[in-house]
Amino acid sequence: MRQILVAGNWKLNGSRKDIVGLIGRILAGAGDTGDTRIAVCPPFVYIPLVSELLSGSKIAYGSQDVSDQESGAFTGEVSGPMLTDFGCSYAIVGHSERRALYAEDDAFTARKFAAARRAGLTPILCVGESLEERDAGITEDVVARQLDAVIDLEGIAALGDAVIAYEPVWAIGTGKTASPQQAQDVHAFIRGKLAGLDKGVADKVQILYGGSVKGSNAAELFAMQDIDGGLIGGASLQADDFLAICRA
Ligand code: PGA
Repeated sequence: MRQILVAGNWKLNGSRKDIVGLIGRILAGAGDTGDTRIAVCPPFVYIPLVSELLSGSKIAYGSQDVSDQESGAFTGEVSGPMLTDFGCSYAIVGHSERRALYAEDDAFTARKFAAARRAGLTPILCVGESLEERDAGITEDVVARQLDAVIDLEGIAALGDAVIAYEPVWAIGTGKTASPQQAQDVHAFIRGKLAGLDKGVADKVQILYGGSVKGSNAAELFAMQDIDGGLIGGASLQADDFLAICRA
């Protein structure tokens, strides 16, 4: 039985004051979230604050990105060892906003995935198709290509201790959620593809769904066989919404 993971991706949001309030409310309400593993991914600069606020709790935290490099002349970058230095457990890599807005391609994403693992972080590898790709009937090709870049660089075994987040680009921040069956179909495709290479890895890997998950739709999504939790954007900025998803 795979554990359910609910990870909040705060994106470029928050202030010191907002985050103290948000974490306070999450900690106060997280008592009845059962076995669900909860994580939050703040902007880099707030990681030390989040680390302090969460100390002694079971809630994990991570980054929204990670450098493909470890150290050196790479202005503006934050490396995996720096993130583990501050207690991060996870690093999101290949989020569609990084891919689309910052031109991060499959190969670069794969190098970030590798860098996260080298540092002892669990990568949360985001994959997913655009609306044009879905309409063209190439969703599976796109997702397979995104996965293959990582498998080619790191090998299939590397996915066994990673997290994959299927995030259809058309569902991110749009209020348009994939139906549970639409999401399940792609999750099953991902697991099936991995099973073709290594059944143990396929059984073990957590596959999250992301894209307009809310308290009101989380339960039906998480009830699907191959959906092991969610990567939550907008709703993770509201403690009540986020906790409702964690309880689902
Ligand atoms: P959303 O974002 O929940 O606001 O749609 C999800 C994500 O981008 O990870």
